[in-house]
Amino acid sequence: MAGDGTGHDWWHVDRVRKLAVRIARAEGADELVVELAALLHDVADYKLTGSEEAGPEAAHVWLTAGGASPELVEHVVTIVRGISFKGAGVAEADLTLEGRCTRDADRLDALGAVGIARAFAYGGSRGQPLHDPGVPPRHHSDAAEYRQGAATTLNHFHEKLLLLRDRMGTETGRRLAQHRHEVVERFLAEFHAEWDADDRSSS
Ligand code: ADP
Ligand code: NI
Repeated sequence: MAGDGTGHDWWHVDRVRKLAVRIARAEGADELVVELAALLHDVADYKLTGSEEAGPEAAHVWLTAGGASPELVEHVVTIVRGISFKGAGVAEADLTLEGRCTRDADRLDALGAVGIARAFAYGGSRGQPLHDPGVPPRHHSDAAEYRQGAATTLNHFHEKLLLLRDRMGTETGRRLAQHRHEVVERFLAEFHAEWDADDRSSS
């Protein structure tokens, strides 16, 4: 993951790890499970490997080789398998408290200033236009369709990012998401004002 330019770099993992452990502490979750799941959550991601099973399998092999108990391996692998957002209309996996702490941390890193930066980095890596007022966002009810990517990066904000605040699985996650959500909303308001040459500057 070192040096990855699609938003899946090591520093994403590092941020998710720190945030996930912080949420776990506040929620009284098992911090070892959460920290391991955060560290492994994007390993061999389908976006890089094209396979849904590659990630959970890599996590399984790595944890087993490291001497983790079968219960610990099973718990972490289940989180790695269930963590990913698959489209606005696609049902979410039911996760344990530890899974919800990890998923909330991953989603928080898609919001706020960092989340905005990651969206445009990812969009650039896929050659997506920034925005096209003639192309409306879509509501994906199918994971395969969602996976093909957004027509524009601005659409991704409506197809995923603005939905995350109401999909947090812990109280702590919800609280942190509120501010990061507002940052995204303010950014979008500024973006559209500039797009329409309707700058909000008073001078
Ligand atoms: P996660 O790391 O939470 O599993 P994803 O793998 O879905 O998230 O995406 C990684 C990052 O790229 C996130 O910040 C996400 O918002 C962004 N991203 C994913 N798909 C798109 C897209 N089609 N356009 C712009 N950004 C995207
Ligand atoms: Ni992630």
